[in-house]
Amino acid sequence: MTTSGQPRTQWLGRWGFMLAATGSAVGLGNIWKFPYMTGEYGGGAFVLVYLLCILAVGVPVMMAEIAFGRRGRGSPIDAVRRVVNESGRSSAWSLFGWMSMLCGFMILSFYVVVAGWSFSYLWKMLTGGLSGGTVEELAAVFGANNANPWNLGFWSTLVTLATMVIVGKGVQEGIEKNVRWMMPGLVIMLLVLIVFGAFSGGFSDAFAFLFSFNTGSLSSEGMLAALGHAFFTLSLAAGAIMTYGSYLPKDTSIARTTLGVALADTVVALMAGLAIFPVIFANGMDPGEGPGLIFMSLPIAFQAMPLGTLFGILFFIMLSMAALTSSISMVEATISWLCDSKGFSRRSAAWSTGIVLWLISTAAMLSFNVGADWTLAGKTFFDWLDYLTSRWLMPLGGLGTVVMAGFVLNINIMRDELGLNPRLYALWLLMARYVSPLGILVIFANVLGLYSV
Ligand code: PHE
Ligand code: NA
Repeated sequence: MTTSGQPRTQWLGRWGFMLAATGSAVGLGNIWKFPYMTGEYGGGAFVLVYLLCILAVGVPVMMAEIAFGRRGRGSPIDAVRRVVNESGRSSAWSLFGWMSMLCGFMILSFYVVVAGWSFSYLWKMLTGGLSGGTVEELAAVFGANNANPWNLGFWSTLVTLATMVIVGKGVQEGIEKNVRWMMPGLVIMLLVLIVFGAFSGGFSDAFAFLFSFNTGSLSSEGMLAALGHAFFTLSLAAGAIMTYGSYLPKDTSIARTTLGVALADTVVALMAGLAIFPVIFANGMDPGEGPGLIFMSLPIAFQAMPLGTLFGILFFIMLSMAALTSSISMVEATISWLCDSKGFSRRSAAWSTGIVLWLISTAAMLSFNVGADWTLAGKTFFDWLDYLTSRWLMPLGGLGTVVMAGFVLNINIMRDELGLNPRLYALWLLMARYVSPLGILVIFANVLGLYSV
């Protein structure tokens, strides 16, 4: 009853899912988005709410998502429908499956632009385009890189192509091997930057900025941003984790894997913060600089440190790889839906999805040049893709997931899938039924001004 009858591929090694899910989670969200958002929302208070959201919302949602995927053995649309049907509930709940698939696709449409920044900076590092620049000059380099739509479009197109080629080849091959060396590599590069920061000044300011949790109060908008970022960084409610979970063997512990992925993701984000903010403070830069923050600051560190060019090259290789292992996870839901339910081959699914993706991502890319003033309520198309997904679609999708898992499904389904001892299961249920949904609702209500704290 739990599967579609046809055999479905599963992860190869014992660590297959863990590696792939970590590859999905660790990406631009950790190294590009987390630092710039922390800077924008003023530091510690944002970090604290983000960490609380990871624990209280992210972890229970991720467990439920993986369980849905494994039980339903299909794309989010099929998996959710099968699992609710198994409990005798309406197929209408699969709306949340649709939403997550759409969400992953929307995220990917702007993610390839940011990944394109990483690839273009790798190129600049290799060809000396970043050497000898001051803070102002590096800001100008970032601006110039964006200003030419042909240049920026070249890089985002390259990322789109790379993503679709990898996805077309299938999930297991490549991902597991790639993440195995990418993760340690990324951690080492961040350590190099942290050590450099510790010697070159700015480290204690950075530490205080990130971890003095009581400084200032966070706006309701900032709380929503922190909640949304917890979803974004863990790849939740975007089809990725649920689809990867659909390839998970029956005997793997969902709880243990979830904790492993969440921990790895959080450690990388905090390390990125500790690597970047010393550079910001030592050079008198503005932490609230926005999306260009790491691209304007890190090259300064690479210029100043011994073997900096080498480390810079390695850093942007790792960042680009981390971006790709995330981007492929964002379309996996769409691809598996096209293959399983619509009869596409993997290759044709990848190409047709790729074309649509290219069109939308090109429109997003134009937000940095010719389309800079195609705005609605002050936001560009790029901004809207980010805003709608992170602030609204993902938290809403996560809410749907825990409500289904906690209230809608037959009580035995989650108990079976999670396989926890009674105490831990009761804890999960408490989180899924009350803590996570209330957390999300309180933050929503607050930002909508239904009340104020
Ligand atoms: N978690 C990824 C990152 O931090 C982004 C992502 C979001 C991946 C949604 C998949 C789905 O970069
Ligand atoms: Na992440």
